[in-house]
Amino acid sequence: MSHSAPRIADDLVQTGRPARIEGRHVNMPIELGSTMAFDTLAAFETARDARYTPGTAYYGRYGNAATHELEKALARLEGADGVTLTSSGVAAITLALMTFVRPGAHLLVADHVYGNTRTFCDTVLARMGVEVEYYDPMIGAGIAALLRDTTCAVVFEAPGSGTFEVPDIPGVTGAARAAGVPTILDSTWATPVNCRPLGLGVDVVVASLSKYLSGHSDCMMGMIASINRHAMDIRKTVMAVGDKTGGQEVFLALRGLRTLKVRMDHLDRAGREIAAWLAEQPQVRRVLHPAFASCPGHDNWKRDFSGASGLFGMVFHPCSDDQVRAFVDALHHFAIGVSWGGYESLVLPVKPQRTAGTWSEDGQLVRFNIGLEETETLKADLAAALPLLNTASE
Ligand SMILES: Cc1ncc(COP(=O)(O)O)c(C=O)c1O
Repeated sequence: MSHSAPRIADDLVQTGRPARIEGRHVNMPIELGSTMAFDTLAAFETARDARYTPGTAYYGRYGNAATHELEKALARLEGADGVTLTSSGVAAITLALMTFVRPGAHLLVADHVYGNTRTFCDTVLARMGVEVEYYDPMIGAGIAALLRDTTCAVVFEAPGSGTFEVPDIPGVTGAARAAGVPTILDSTWATPVNCRPLGLGVDVVVASLSKYLSGHSDCMMGMIASINRHAMDIRKTVMAVGDKTGGQEVFLALRGLRTLKVRMDHLDRAGREIAAWLAEQPQVRRVLHPAFASCPGHDNWKRDFSGASGLFGMVFHPCSDDQVRAFVDALHHFAIGVSWGGYESLVLPVKPQRTAGTWSEDGQLVRFNIGLEETETLKADLAAALPLLNTASE
């Protein structure tokens, strides 16, 4: 577990703040606006020519002082040479992909990726003439055998946010780098508190800030963090498409970041406590939590991550869909909804979509997002609803 960011709590307090705070508020203000005005044409032209350089004040769509501070904060956390914000996590994924794909190219995508990544690949990229190939997320260095001269990128997620397999990140990145193929990793689950993928050879990290990074279910945003080689191309793609973050969201993301470490530490403890308790219940067949030996890729997690987040899956012994519905509906402290990483607990039945392989677990998969409620409250809620699954261990 050698890749945790040192002194990350200190960084989170100091980073992304106004350069001078004497007589000013400690936070960046909410910054709204479109046109930025200049007194001379020469000053305008200088700004226009430097518009892709982070921190340049030119026009609202290219960023402002607050977006610049947030991008710098995220770059420090990820150990990235460049970060560009996007309007959502999905926009981060799609715009990172748009930077690398071209008609006729071959794209390798892990079979366990977030559903919308798959949708984008199968619709927009397919229409553009990109050949998308899904691969076994646990392939590791074996990815070398799938790389072609036309492969434009390898896309994966650590862990899969629906099924939680933890891939061998250095295995994949080592093989891809040796072949000169860039890797794009969705690291939303871990956050830089628990994994810094650029240090494991990943070229481009994408994440949804709508989840843990902002952390309060009140903000939608994404980011693309990369090594220097790709930073400007990514930024130009985002700007060319015209994707843009709102001023209020930037403020909320900066505010959420301040508490990221304490939230992640709590959620790690709470998530493991509840997963361990669930593991002992007769209805549970398998725990899909990266910190548990029963999760595929657990050894990769132990090697490459410094902690876990509060999102995990449980495979329940085979039962009917109606029983799962009754169980989920009976929970009072777990709301039903997509997304995760906010302060509130959530629950969602998951039907994994696979095309490179098959989802082989025999049973019903339910995903839990642990929030900031008392763990005793959550366990009592689960204990009351579990009998509705009406299953028994073998
Ligand atoms: C792993 C992962 N990446 C990206 C996203 C998309 O993020 P957003 O909802 O901010 O577009 C999600 C959303 O659920 C996700 O689970």
